[in-house]
Amino acid sequence: MGVRVHSNIFILPSLFLVLALVFHQGNAKGKAASVSGSGCDLFTGKWVFDPSYPLYSASAACPFIEREFACQKNGRQDLLYTHYRWHPLDCTLSRFNALKFLEKFRGKSIMFVGDSLSRNQWQSLTCMLHSAIPNAKNNLSRVGDVSTFEFLDYGTKVMLDRNVYLVDVVKEKIGRVLKLDSIQGGKLWKGIDMLIFNTWHWWNRRGPTQPWDFVKVGDAIKKDMDRMLAFETALRTWAAWVDENIDPTETLVFFQGISPSHYNGTLWNEPKAKNCLGQKQPLLGTTYPGGLPPALDVLKSVLSTVKKPVTLLDITMLSLLRKDGHPSKYGLGGPTAMDCSHWCLEGVPDTWNEILYNLIL
Ligand SMILES: *[C@@H]1O[C@H](CO)[C@@H](O)[C@H](O)[C@H]1NC(C)=O
Ligand SMILES: *[C@@H]1O[C@H](CO)[C@@H](O)[C@H](O)[C@H]1NC(C)=O
Repeated sequence: MGVRVHSNIFILPSLFLVLALVFHQGNAKGKAASVSGSGCDLFTGKWVFDPSYPLYSASAACPFIEREFACQKNGRQDLLYTHYRWHPLDCTLSRFNALKFLEKFRGKSIMFVGDSLSRNQWQSLTCMLHSAIPNAKNNLSRVGDVSTFEFLDYGTKVMLDRNVYLVDVVKEKIGRVLKLDSIQGGKLWKGIDMLIFNTWHWWNRRGPTQPWDFVKVGDAIKKDMDRMLAFETALRTWAAWVDENIDPTETLVFFQGISPSHYNGTLWNEPKAKNCLGQKQPLLGTTYPGGLPPALDVLKSVLSTVKKPVTLLDITMLSLLRKDGHPSKYGLGGPTAMDCSHWCLEGVPDTWNEILYNLIL
């Protein structure tokens, strides 16, 4: 059994809201939801400068933020990147309202499942909520791979299950086996009211930080295999889990999509840039010169086979435009581990959550 790492409790009068919102079923699978019945595609649009953003100040309002994403604390001084708002072409996103969100999820639980990009979005959401009610009671705890930020006055749990492949890695006599057909980790996902899955970045990992020695698919145990095929096979296992285990009247299911990296300036028409260092502004158009990553096609094709409703949070293109949003040398590893994969907070994942908010409220 895991151990509780720490818990913080802040006590002050709770806020009271008289706002009854029905926990309604999401939109059709694979399609962008409509906002107010407008049929608007929330994922096609552009970034616009808006001095009323960011939605919170991580350094002031978010004491629990992890160093990995705390770019300003780590020395980043240019702040223009925090003042952009995502503007879908055909409609306007509603601004995130933390109290409405908490009211909708009163007594309910939300779980992000995936790798550090899930942690990025989980931290963003906890900051967005906490900054609106900084003095309300909360409890941050961790048991095993599951971190929980609980808003005690609402009974709302915002959780993170760190599970980088979604399918299982099992220690056996021959070594650590990545089992593409096995998804025992799913036990932790039952009974949750909203699940947001993600996996991708670890599928291409090789060498000493690859956390498995063999890969098992069907009855075959191999030393390695085509990584895109492995990714697809695992997604199919996950899709079958969703169809078998999700009751759509109880649980909303989202997939985070493919969060892009910026390590090659040729892809944004700046061939001299070797990574995202020094990028201070987004691309202001609607498309990315380097195109979409192939993993997104694989993900979309698997999602189209799921029978239960799953909504793709299709954040790839809007995030591709944000070459300025990564920690670069202001991340966990400093200049030696140039981080152009994760995102500064406050920052781009706040928009992922703002879109999520628009999809569910
Ligand atoms: C905080 O979370 C821990 C771990 O789940 C739990 O043991 C503890 O009772 C919680 N505290 C409060 C005040 O809810
Ligand atoms: C960057 O992308 C271009 C265009 O796809 C490619 O030709 C080039 O090899 C890439 N550079 C690196 C360092 O990967």
